[in-house]
Amino acid sequence: MATAHPASATLPVPESTPGRLPPRRAGWTLPQPYFNDPGIYRLDIERIWKRGWLFAGHLCEIPRTGDYFLVELDTESVIVIRGEGDTVHALHNVCRHRGSVICTEPCGHATRLVCPYHQWAYDLDGRLVAWRGMQPDLDKADFALWPVAVREVEGLIFLCLAPEPPPFEAAAACLGPLARPQGFGRAKVAKAVDYLVKANWKVVWENNRECYHCNVNHPQYIQANFDHYNADDTPSRVREAMASVVARSEARWSAEGLATTHTDTGMTVFPDAARGIWFSANRTALVDGWVSESMDGRQVAPLMGDYRDPDVGTLRMRTLPNFWNHSSCDHGVSTRLLPLGPQQTAIRVWWLVAEHAVEGRDYDLTKVMPFWQLTSEQDWEICERQQKGINTSAYHPGPYSAFKEYNVEGFVRWYLEMLEKVGMRKAEG
Ligand code: FES
Ligand SMILES: [Fe+2]
Repeated sequence: MATAHPASATLPVPESTPGRLPPRRAGWTLPQPYFNDPGIYRLDIERIWKRGWLFAGHLCEIPRTGDYFLVELDTESVIVIRGEGDTVHALHNVCRHRGSVICTEPCGHATRLVCPYHQWAYDLDGRLVAWRGMQPDLDKADFALWPVAVREVEGLIFLCLAPEPPPFEAAAACLGPLARPQGFGRAKVAKAVDYLVKANWKVVWENNRECYHCNVNHPQYIQANFDHYNADDTPSRVREAMASVVARSEARWSAEGLATTHTDTGMTVFPDAARGIWFSANRTALVDGWVSESMDGRQVAPLMGDYRDPDVGTLRMRTLPNFWNHSSCDHGVSTRLLPLGPQQTAIRVWWLVAEHAVEGRDYDLTKVMPFWQLTSEQDWEICERQQKGINTSAYHPGPYSAFKEYNVEGFVRWYLEMLEKVGMRKAEG
């Protein structure tokens, strides 16, 4: 999908001043300031959130030319809009006249983007097309909306606020083939729920990257999955059960590229801090008898995408710093994080189904939603409790489990490397 934009200039982004980061002991949690210090939060925004590729939303949310939604990060506001001829544009939501925001609703439809202040009007690709009362020696071509880099892969839209975005090709090559059969481009949003979680965004990721907490906190999730077993505690009966599901998947689906790719208990290794890998995707087995991450494991909506049979395990994707997705044969669940401050994270969870599925006839939200609604809300509560404890004078870093929190250590390493990338002094002791 083309993303051409008329403005050749890129918006300059100010550099923040490097400083000394509190040291961390390898294999231990981060010191308190990483979770509540406004200065470190600013560094997070400048060095990670304004540099990396952010998941914005789904192509199926803007099916018609002129449909748009906003992505608001820190003080930034970006319009993601469907343009002419199947294009998607991302534009800073800031008028080139005196700086008013242009779109004021979180989503909508526009034939032109008209500033509410003095009605400068922009085309869907950001070109300025009308400005009443301006002198003739000025050229409209110099006043297009500032563009934001945007990429779409299999119905998932990503944007990057950096003037020179990091490469996206490897991420597209990783996510694309696994996401394709799910048919996100032919999906519809059955429901989206917004949460304001009172925790630093890293607390939320650290929680996502381990299943040490699952046995007690996620009674629904552990019925369907093998993630919560690790090298130290996988009973032989579980190992055999998993091997049999994996072998069945291999026999049925290898020819179609739908066989499970994550074949061990425990969570897949992500991120890969040593190689700077911020994206990953895999297909994971569900416990025998489960074909969907629903409350009873049964199919709860029509098959999505290219699937012809429900027994395809789950597709899982994640990209740092703000996206993960679990998709079953019949519905997909996307989660997007956007930090709102050192101790606040805006989280949106979407439930997607096949585009022609009709609520009440083909699916029922009370069956599609609870598995991930419960699991998500259980996690948000955990995160808020942890943030509260971290804020006290009694918080001191604690050690990670090498068996169960290998990905949390990986996440922290990735995070520190991103922070230190531009002239920062090493934070790791
Ligand atoms: S600020 Fe937008 S038209 Fe004046
Ligand atoms: Fe969890």
